[in-house]
Amino acid sequence: MVSFASNDYLGLSCHPQVIAAARRALDQWGTGATASRLVVGHRPCHDDLEHELAAWKGCDAAVVLPTGYAANLAVLGVVGGPDTVILSDELNHASLIDGCRLSRSEVTVYRHSDLDDLDSLLARHRDRRLVVATDSVFSMDGDVVDLPALAAVCSSHDALLVLDEAHTVFETDTPVDLSDMGAEVLRVGTLSKTLGSLGGYVAGPQNLVDLIINRARPFIFSTGSTPADTAAALAALRIVRSPEGVALVDRLRALVDRLAPGHPSPIVPIIVGGEAEALDAAAALAERGLLVPAIRPPTVAPGTSRLRVTLSAVHSDDEVDRLCVALDELGLR
Ligand SMILES: Cc1ncc(COP(=O)(O)O)c(C=O)c1O
Repeated sequence: MVSFASNDYLGLSCHPQVIAAARRALDQWGTGATASRLVVGHRPCHDDLEHELAAWKGCDAAVVLPTGYAANLAVLGVVGGPDTVILSDELNHASLIDGCRLSRSEVTVYRHSDLDDLDSLLARHRDRRLVVATDSVFSMDGDVVDLPALAAVCSSHDALLVLDEAHTVFETDTPVDLSDMGAEVLRVGTLSKTLGSLGGYVAGPQNLVDLIINRARPFIFSTGSTPADTAAALAALRIVRSPEGVALVDRLRALVDRLAPGHPSPIVPIIVGGEAEALDAAAALAERGLLVPAIRPPTVAPGTSRLRVTLSAVHSDDEVDRLCVALDELGLR
């Protein structure tokens, strides 16, 4: 089977340098961090990764958490609260939704990527502390936010922007610099997709990152990420920031264009509609040796069950062509 289902967008989970870095960390530090980072779970590789993540994202500081899911709970738990209104895109990832709930904030959902709706909802809550939370690339639709326009709306209402960049890959070599767009931004990401490892992070202004380190329950009350995962993510990040990383991103761009010309991300949804139809379509592809999962409610809205194709820089042209032919044969493209 050829898998079109993972989030290993640049194939770095199997890159020899990434594997070697994990092995070295395992030999040097053992298997587990053995405690919360604030107790004795901190290792030099956590510092190294946090410094490089901050530099990569153009932020003052970054903090690594056990997962991307925990990173969203952490950030919203800290910046939210009963005196805060969080404006949340209707297609946000479950971890942002759960972060909103746990934060005990007032939560208002705005229409998907509708900045006019967001603008008017922000105006309605003018006298409150405001936070806007959104995915940068939506995980089940593969569409992207208009970041400059979103940052401008946030800035005009003095709202903090919490941006989940878990699936951002096409801007990995040059992340969009949000510093001169006026909005205060906390950038959340994961180590488990483009960086091929396990863990999450929050990058942003030093004072907000310090607040997370001192106040976020998913950081304080959970064991630090393992030295091997951390070292693997650091090695992967160094590849992403190198000419090799740029070439991998270009390769991925070319593969996406082969399947869906101009599509803005490596997540290509094929909306089928009914749940049974989506399962049948996935089974028909599986018979042809192509693994594309059917995504159904509650992950997506009823009536929008779909095949979720994800591409990776390590797919061959031939593999992507096989998928295209199969989708054409099944009337799905
Ligand atoms: C948009 C988004 N945010 C956060 C996460 C959680 O990241 P992690 O798998 O590292 O917990 C995911 C996926 O798993 C995601 O798709």
